[in-house]
Amino acid sequence: MEKRELIFDGNEKQVFATDDNHKVIFRYKDVTLAYGGVKRALFIGKGALDNKISALMLGELNRKGVETHFIEVINDNEQLCRKIQIIPLEFIVRNRIAGSLAERLGVKEGIRPEEPIVDLRYNNDELDDPLINDHHAIALGLATKEELKHMYSIATRTNTILKALCHKAGIELIDVKVEFGRDSLTGNIIISDELSPDTCRMWDEKTGEKLDKDRFRHDLSDVVASYREVLDRLTKAIA
Ligand code: TMP
Repeated sequence: MEKRELIFDGNEKQVFATDDNHKVIFRYKDVTLAYGGVKRALFIGKGALDNKISALMLGELNRKGVETHFIEVINDNEQLCRKIQIIPLEFIVRNRIAGSLAERLGVKEGIRPEEPIVDLRYNNDELDDPLINDHHAIALGLATKEELKHMYSIATRTNTILKALCHKAGIELIDVKVEFGRDSLTGNIIISDELSPDTCRMWDEKTGEKLDKDRFRHDLSDVVASYREVLDRLTKAIA
């Protein structure tokens, strides 16, 4: 596989074209942002950990029959992925109320709803990724009613699969952000982007210790060590 030109240069990730029109290379950087870019830091080695954790989680979904863009890890910071057309929606599936939802509802983090809660956001930096509903997504032409139903179903199944994987690793999956794209080859709606402690909340099952990006958001230190712990535990759980 030959790496070609840079086609997307994000703050935390880059995407490169390849000699195959339907495949791209995802590169995970060490730069980390929070609060829409207001907070920024460099954590040496974090990009490589995100790459490997994401590969494990996306790989687990592929094995369980949930199609994702992930094909294979190429090196420390890069993975080969299927090229997709982005659907600018974020499905946030929550097993416990935490983060922005706890703030919005004025409650302490930790409430466990009977069924997972799913929030829908419009992925639009200029608008600060606003919360939207199905009617808005359809009116904007982002997806049809049937496609939305399909994505809700896949997002929920993704949560179920990853929750079980994390549990095997002694980690409680608190929430997970799922994004989708249309496969450039098949047109199928598949899971895109990363799945890592940047895009999921993960707490140690026994101690409740946060092992995810909240360590950076809340200045809790040991960000890289926590991500390494997540990788080690998931690697053992999958073996
Ligand atoms: P929230 O509590 O800020 O709404 O985030 C819920 C989960 O989704 C959390 O694990 C972080 C993840 N997330 C992203 O990865 N990117 C985003 O743009 C947002 C808003 C959340």
